[in-house]
Amino acid sequence: MPPTKHLKLLDIGCGEGKDAVFFARNGYDVTAFDISDAGVEKTKRLADKIGVHVNVFKADILDFRLDSYFDVIYSSGVLNYIKPEYRDEIFRNYKQYTNPYGVHVLNVFVNKPFIAPPPEKESNSFMWRSGELLTHYQDWFIKDSSEIVFDCNSSGIPHKHAMTKLIAQKIIKLD
Ligand SMILES: C[S@@+](CC[C@H](N)C(=O)[O-])C[C@H]1O[C@@H](n2cnc3c(N)ncnc32)[C@H](O)[C@@H]1O
Repeated sequence: MPPTKHLKLLDIGCGEGKDAVFFARNGYDVTAFDISDAGVEKTKRLADKIGVHVNVFKADILDFRLDSYFDVIYSSGVLNYIKPEYRDEIFRNYKQYTNPYGVHVLNVFVNKPFIAPPPEKESNSFMWRSGELLTHYQDWFIKDSSEIVFDCNSSGIPHKHAMTKLIAQKIIKLD
């Protein structure tokens, strides 16, 4: 949905930048970060190739905290790198630095008893519990929330993932 006014969007864990560049092409003022040097470099190259500006930098999601405001916070396939004990504090920071009526558009990998663990073992990755993401947004308006199961062929081994998707909006109470 192209923005109808100036909107600042943050892509957390932008990878090679496909989504960040897509948002910039569509008129958002995009900031993005990733822990991977290669990802940051590829995001810059893709933005240059397409002719858009993305403010992209290297950062670790565990250390990075917001100190300026965004209208949209977007993250896909990354929030599993936040250890469970850090989630509450990090989400409070993301929510605090979201402008009134701003949205968070997120997905997280979730554990399901009927889905086998993924073949790649990552010691720094922590699956979410199904429904856990919603618990961080009890005071926001849940515009959409769903769970999907999809096929994946990473490492050349066919397997499945379960994922929760969420769109939540910060509504300011009017007196
Ligand atoms: C599954 S990819 C998703 C990338 C991108 N969001 C996309 O949808 O294409 C996971 C990304 O998380 C990044 N990542 C892993 N640990 C991270 C951390 N501690 N802080 C920031 N980014 C991290 C990886 O470098 C990788 O780019």
